Amino acid sequence: MRSKVLTIYLSIAIALSLLVFLSAYNKNVMLPGNHQGYEPVQPIQYSHRLHAGELGIDCQFCHTGAEKSRHAGIPPVQTCMNCHKFITAPYLEVKAEDELAVKENRKPRQIISKEIAKIYEAIGLDNELKSDSSKTPSSIKWIKVHKLPDFVYFDHRPHVAAGVQCQTCHGAVETMERVRQVNDLSMGWCVNCHRDANANGINRKKVNASTDCTACHY
Ligand code: HEC
Ligand code: HEC
Ligand code: HEC
Ligand code: HEC
Ligand code: HEC
Repeated sequence: MRSKVLTIYLSIAIALSLLVFLSAYNKNVMLPGNHQGYEPVQPIQYSHRLHAGELGIDCQFCHTGAEKSRHAGIPPVQTCMNCHKFITAPYLEVKAEDELAVKENRKPRQIISKEIAKIYEAIGLDNELKSDSSKTPSSIKWIKVHKLPDFVYFDHRPHVAAGVQCQTCHGAVETMERVRQVNDLSMGWCVNCHRDANANGINRKKVNASTDCTACHY
């Protein structure tokens, strides 16, 4: 057991020095830790405040993996198209155009907002929402907000199963226009909650959250 812990410790130390070395050459290599408050600008101005807050869409409607796999996952554009096949622009803009068209005695023009147009572009549709063979469908290059170092093992499943809320770890995402890393994701943060959860339970249910090195480092 002792030598196993030592091996873990050594491989982590090697991994860390390699990271420090790499990051000196490439600013895109992230150092572990201290990304609390990180809030990157995303390729589409997608708002959790609007979708998860105002519209009340369930987190797991989009992040289907949280219960079933290690990663919560980022939804493909097809998930957005469930609604954006019909919703091409904010309701008020569409309504204003409809009223103007009645007044001017013509057919209303279809309004496609600049941000929603990026969904259609990614899926390979033209500006009449017909599939355009000259466009190759691609996925949206969302920028990762949370990123643990590779030497840490994290799995959403046991947390969701034990009844830990998304918000306990990610903050009030449903109020955010743009997702921000709320907690520091440090080892102390994980281990303190494991100790606290073992002492006090989660929603009064007893849990057994491991504090062994090998639970989070293999
Ligand atoms: C309609 C789909 C949708 C719903 C509903 C939704 N999300 Fe998201 N979520 C996304 C998309 C798309 C991204 C990637 C873009 C971004 O970061 O904003 C994302 C990103 C995130 C991230 C950051 C991922 C990373 O890169 O680290 C977290 C955390 C998150 N969502 C949590 C939640 C929580 C908690 C809820 C419920 C309160 C929720 N989401 C509801 C679509 C959704
Ligand atoms: C115990 C804390 C915790 C809980 C509870 C939690 N998350 Fe996470 N989440 C994390 C950590 C830590 C990461 C970074 C994982 C990594 O880098 O491997 C993460 C990453 C993510 C990501 C980025 C993509 C991915 O799958 O790694 C999304 C999206 C996300 N969480 C959504 C959610 C949603 C939705 C819920 C609730 C159903 C939730 N999380 C519950 C801690 C948590
Ligand atoms: C359950 C339905 C639903 C889903 C799923 C959905 N949206 Fe929306 N979205 C809406 C509605 C409704 C509005 C318009 C609200 C309004 O009238 O202002 C909207 C508005 C938007 C806007 C703002 C448009 C603007 O010009 O102001 C963007 C951007 C957007 N959605 C992106 C996305 C993306 C990206 C996804 C997939 C990750 C997604 N939506 C999934 C219902 C949905
Ligand atoms: C808010 C509290 C909380 C935080 C923060 C948290 N965990 Fe947990 N963790 C739990 C609970 C509760 C369980 C489930 C215990 C059970 O099923 O009895 C768990 C289970 C686990 C497990 C499964 C092994 C086991 O003990 O059952 C791993 C691995 C794990 N957590 C890693 C992490 C890592 C890595 C982090 C930090 C990035 C983290 N956790 C942050 C509460 C937390
Ligand atoms: C519940 C999960 C968890 C457990 C248990 C755990 N660690 Fe960690 N450990 C982490 C996380 C998360 C990080 C990354 C911290 C960061 O990026 O700032 C980390 C980082 C480290 C580092 C890198 C230096 C540092 O502090 O950032 C070492 C070394 C380490 N752990 C050793 C251990 C040893 C030895 C044990 C057993 C006594 C242990 N860990 C138990 C989650 C855990």
